[in-house]
Amino acid sequence: MTTNGSFQLFSSSDDKPSLGLGFLESSEPPLPPPPPSIEVLSSEVSPSVKYTVEPVNLDGLTLLKGRVSTKEVLGLPNSDLVPGIYEGGLKLWEGSLDLVKALRSEIQNGHLSLKGKRVLELGCGHGLPGIFACLEGAAETHFQDFNAEVLRCLTIPNVNANLAEKSQPDNASEARFFAGDWGEIHQLLPHAHESEMNSEHGQATGYDVILMAETIYSISAQRNLYGLIKKCMIHPHGVVYMAGKKHYFGVGGGTRQFLSMLEKEGKLILCSFGHVNRTVIYSCHVG
Ligand SMILES: C[S@@+](CC[C@H](N)C(=O)[O-])C[C@H]1O[C@@H](n2cnc3c(N)ncnc32)[C@H](O)[C@@H]1O
Repeated sequence: MTTNGSFQLFSSSDDKPSLGLGFLESSEPPLPPPPPSIEVLSSEVSPSVKYTVEPVNLDGLTLLKGRVSTKEVLGLPNSDLVPGIYEGGLKLWEGSLDLVKALRSEIQNGHLSLKGKRVLELGCGHGLPGIFACLEGAAETHFQDFNAEVLRCLTIPNVNANLAEKSQPDNASEARFFAGDWGEIHQLLPHAHESEMNSEHGQATGYDVILMAETIYSISAQRNLYGLIKKCMIHPHGVVYMAGKKHYFGVGGGTRQFLSMLEKEGKLILCSFGHVNRTVIYSCHVG
């Protein structure tokens, strides 16, 4: 459903079951210029926005998530997203919970360790996968969202709430926060390169693990997202864990388009390791 350019997209875990994946607008109007890319300091938590915290149970693991009002934070009605203005970071989408479950099972099966790693969560919103990485001993975790307000009012308070209880000061993960569009944010991200990954010469710097959930719903944004991943992944052992839906009705994006773009270029190899609920989870390595 669309109201003044704002959309109800797919179901989020903040909504009580809304299994009708209604998204009825298909033409994509031109987007406004993106907001400037900035680093948001962890001290910049918004003091005026009401933030309440509640537990989320993930098959035995409890994380904390905040709840804020979209109207209070952004002055917008309670919509899932407003393309080019607000990209959905204030809601908790089910893919991010499914991604945490998948990462946890990868660690339990001995296929993944996050200890000492450089982790980047793209399109973080609440940031639960990145928070999980901090709790699992990542050396650095960088969180990115389109909207600085999301980081100030939700992501940073969520990181504080989860890490206050569980993290030891001497092995705390360094958490940093970056707002901006996928087409430009590489200029700010500390471990991104200026140019895209060169498979012959590799890259000496980058992130060991890139996490992202529910980020591939917009066809027009997929190319920039893919370009950013190539600028951020360390070569040759970098890995991306992504969670998404096969198809986001009405917007046309989804894992199918994203995978076919990757297959055409052949620079990244994809492995599907399954479904959690309606979410497909992929890991993706340098080819
Ligand atoms: C649907 S929300 C998902 C949020 C979170 N990962 C979750 O699953 O709960 C999409 C996320 O991608 C980010 N995003 C979408 N389009 C973007 C763009 N063009 N540039 C930067 N970030 C973008 C939004 O800020 C938001 O955090």
